Amino acid sequence: MQTGYQKMASIVDLGVGEIKRVDINGRGYLLANVEGEFFVADDLCTHEDVSLALGCLKGEWIKCSLHGSQFNLRTGEVMEEPADEPLRVYPVKIEDGDVFAKLD
Ligand code: FES
Repeated sequence: MQTGYQKMASIVDLGVGEIKRVDINGRGYLLANVEGEFFVADDLCTHEDVSLALGCLKGEWIKCSLHGSQFNLRTGEVMEEPADEPLRVYPVKIEDGDVFAKLD
């Protein structure tokens, strides 16, 4: 494993089309399985502090449950307002059946 990568989950923990929040060192991250490809982003919506794990996955977009902002999980780009700040996304790698993200 490369330095700086943190284990988020095992691949078997999250089925295709599923999302979940993972807490690491007091901070929440969103883990998503999009067609077998895993994405990791901050869990809090950039509009207000609501967990995006309560939202829904639409392809590689996550839709916030509160006001409907949508973010691209690959780039963090805002696809639908009212949010105007991009979501922070993290590099992901798979190793030995586990999902790792380079958090900082
Ligand atoms: S809190 Fe997410 S869109 Fe408003």
